[in-house]
Amino acid sequence: MNRASWGSRLGFILAVAGSAVGLANIWRFPYLVGYHGGAAFIILYFICLALIGFPTFIAEILIGRSTQTNPDSAFRQLGGKNWSWGGKLTIITGFIVASFYSAVAGWILGYFIEAALGNLHLFTEPNQVVDYHSTLMNTPWWGVLFHFIFMMGATSVLFFGVRNGIERGNKIMMPLLFVILFLLVAQGLSMPNAKEGLTFLFYPDWSVITPATFLIALSQAFFTLSVGQGTLVTYGSYLKKEENLITSAFPIIIIDTLVSILASVAVFTIVFSTGLKPDAGPDLLFHTLPWAFSQITGGYFLAFLFFLLVTIAALTSEISALEPLIAWLVDEKGWKRTKAVLVAGLGAFCLGIPSALSFNLLKEHTWQDQTFFDWTHWLASDLLIPIGGILAVILVGWKWGADKAINHLMQGASVTFKRSPWLKIYFKFCFKYCSPFLILLVFLSIIGLFR
Ligand code: PFF
Repeated sequence: MNRASWGSRLGFILAVAGSAVGLANIWRFPYLVGYHGGAAFIILYFICLALIGFPTFIAEILIGRSTQTNPDSAFRQLGGKNWSWGGKLTIITGFIVASFYSAVAGWILGYFIEAALGNLHLFTEPNQVVDYHSTLMNTPWWGVLFHFIFMMGATSVLFFGVRNGIERGNKIMMPLLFVILFLLVAQGLSMPNAKEGLTFLFYPDWSVITPATFLIALSQAFFTLSVGQGTLVTYGSYLKKEENLITSAFPIIIIDTLVSILASVAVFTIVFSTGLKPDAGPDLLFHTLPWAFSQITGGYFLAFLFFLLVTIAALTSEISALEPLIAWLVDEKGWKRTKAVLVAGLGAFCLGIPSALSFNLLKEHTWQDQTFFDWTHWLASDLLIPIGGILAVILVGWKWGADKAINHLMQGASVTFKRSPWLKIYFKFCFKYCSPFLILLVFLSIIGLFR
């Protein structure tokens, strides 16, 4: 049987952009910027993107494109039998991410329904917003129900396959996402105190930057680019070998970064115009924004559009986190796609239940003061994703060999490399030295070596 592939270059770009653009762009990026010195954080983030994020992103898609198979067998083909474990690990990471990501996205979907019902723009006191949020969070069935509905949404797209499901789904959802985002930015910019919001966003406050901020910027770059979790290898494996990888991948980085910045513009201008500050951490989404929506005319539509935007972004990411396991079950176990989708979706749903319950029923069930959600989130984001990323660059830079890998990268991209000969040096330097070294440094500091 022929292996699945993308129908067009645009399909690939939108699918990978759909994976990349998610909660980390629209929720996490604005509050990180709000907390860590505005433009100072953005500059740090750009450095992480250029030296680590982009090369790792390219390395993973390249692994997939040149082997045309799932991460397990891709790692085996390029690195030998022992490397298969690395590939399997990235698939497991994607699966774990899919579980808690859906639990969190479930709240967003739930909030979208609340917004649609007209419940998120009529608060008359800030306390009401906080109470409303904690009532919902303290209702166990609410989180689990929306976690389930969200997972159903993701699996129903996946059922239809790579071209008719993932590609078509992203071709519909991503343009919708851009339209909503532009509407929100336009609205934000037309608000009375928009300038203050923009100043806060684009003024670099270096005084709050510490070495830890660098780690946060890097983990943000990794998580938002969907690096280290089998997704990019798998999506790359559906790409035809003659595609120009550089000109296909570069727009994705631009889209992802632009969405993060535009989402921050929308959030900051709206929040500032109501006299609030966007430095509330994760509560930005559930406390600050609904309060801001209650202060302005058109709050109903803004709340509706905003939570729709975040739901769509999360859905296209969730789909991509599940796909590596599905591809593995189909390629390695010979399963039918429908069975693979069902098992992967059901498995991620079940593993996500304790995460969804970590904020109510299982709140007191902690280990070393951390809930189940905290542990799975830490395990995947801080431990497994950097490991997956470093394995991919070491595989490409050392085991497969940087020169050979770059030759493969040049397939379909010879014109680009001729036009920009420095690209060869850049990739060789990053694949071999810069990215592995920096990821290792980050990893060691995450596990507490430099404390
Ligand atoms: N890149 C997504 C985001 O920015 O929210 C997160 C994500 C997607 C993580 C896909 C993992 C994954 F496999």
